[in-house]
Amino acid sequence: MAILVLGGAGYIGSHTVYELIDRGEEVVVADNLETGHIEAVHPKAKFYQGDIRDRAFVDKVFEECKIDAVIHFAANSLVGESMTNPLKYYDNNLCGTKVLLESMVAHRIDKIVFSSTAATYGEPKNIPIMESDSTHPTNCYGETKLSMEKMFKWTGRAHGLRYVSLRYFNACGAHESGEIGEAHAPETHLIPLILQVPNGKREAITIFGDDYQTPDGTCIRDYIHVTDLAMAHILAVQYLRDGNISNIFNLGNGVGFSVKEVIETARKVTGHPIPAVISERRAGDPARLIASSEKARQVLGWNPQHDDLEKIIASAWKWHKNHPNGFEKK
Ligand code: UFG
Repeated sequence: MAILVLGGAGYIGSHTVYELIDRGEEVVVADNLETGHIEAVHPKAKFYQGDIRDRAFVDKVFEECKIDAVIHFAANSLVGESMTNPLKYYDNNLCGTKVLLESMVAHRIDKIVFSSTAATYGEPKNIPIMESDSTHPTNCYGETKLSMEKMFKWTGRAHGLRYVSLRYFNACGAHESGEIGEAHAPETHLIPLILQVPNGKREAITIFGDDYQTPDGTCIRDYIHVTDLAMAHILAVQYLRDGNISNIFNLGNGVGFSVKEVIETARKVTGHPIPAVISERRAGDPARLIASSEKARQVLGWNPQHDDLEKIIASAWKWHKNHPNGFEKK
């Protein structure tokens, strides 16, 4: 029986496929390649190009492959874009998941691990954030991910499907081989943008606001290595295979770093001065987001290995230095 990875050509999806294959799993990848990269798909995975909004496509994959569980990364994930084009997010993230669930129910596939986000919480009331905290997303991306979680809950109750929702904090870093890594166009995330400076693709990094209520005035985030995220998906599949109930877990290191600390660490790793300029705050950025991942540690047995920011940035730098244009050849 295989694991179907939807969005397995994307950043976190491709790293999860590498870890699954390393552990001897049979893997089928489906991706529409709208934001994913064919070069990121592990050569040992069976690949289907198609869109989860296309019921005939999803049915075909389930009919041709014996699928035991689904890991679902196939979604749009840019916070800013979700605010200017919300219906794109409702269409892909929610309508896509509806079609997927209809097909899963029809084919009696009853286990799904889902890529969720800290953006489901919105402005946090408590730090560290617990899974039991209230969820009031402040952007449309987070709203669609929270709605997807609810689709799994109600579909599960009606049809016996079980799910694990993994709420990631700030994904970063790259595979140790240096063969796959983060490649978004446009890039909006802090660490790849910082590394564009030593790569000669950007003059300076812009700091979005230095007047937050934090020790150095810049926003604090919980940076978690993509391979540690990938491992959590494997543990979540095992958790469902073992017959456990549906559940939701935060995935973070539980340690926060400010934007200035991340830039300083990148200077140390790359040996480049990386000039920084201060600009206005970016709309919708909470001052501090730090996860409590105690539940994932205790229930899933998750034990993130990359808790050193310097090593995390070094792994990202290994990828970006050798692939300044991402997966493009030139
Ligand atoms: N930042 C800058 N300059 C930049 C880019 C980012 O100062 O050029 C700052 C942001 O303001 C923020 C921090 O760096 O304070 C991290 O920003 P990212 O865009 O890298 O990440 P976010 O924390 O905004 O977003 C991440 C995920 C989202 C998810 C969100 C949950 O990327 O998918 O966490 O809150 F929705």
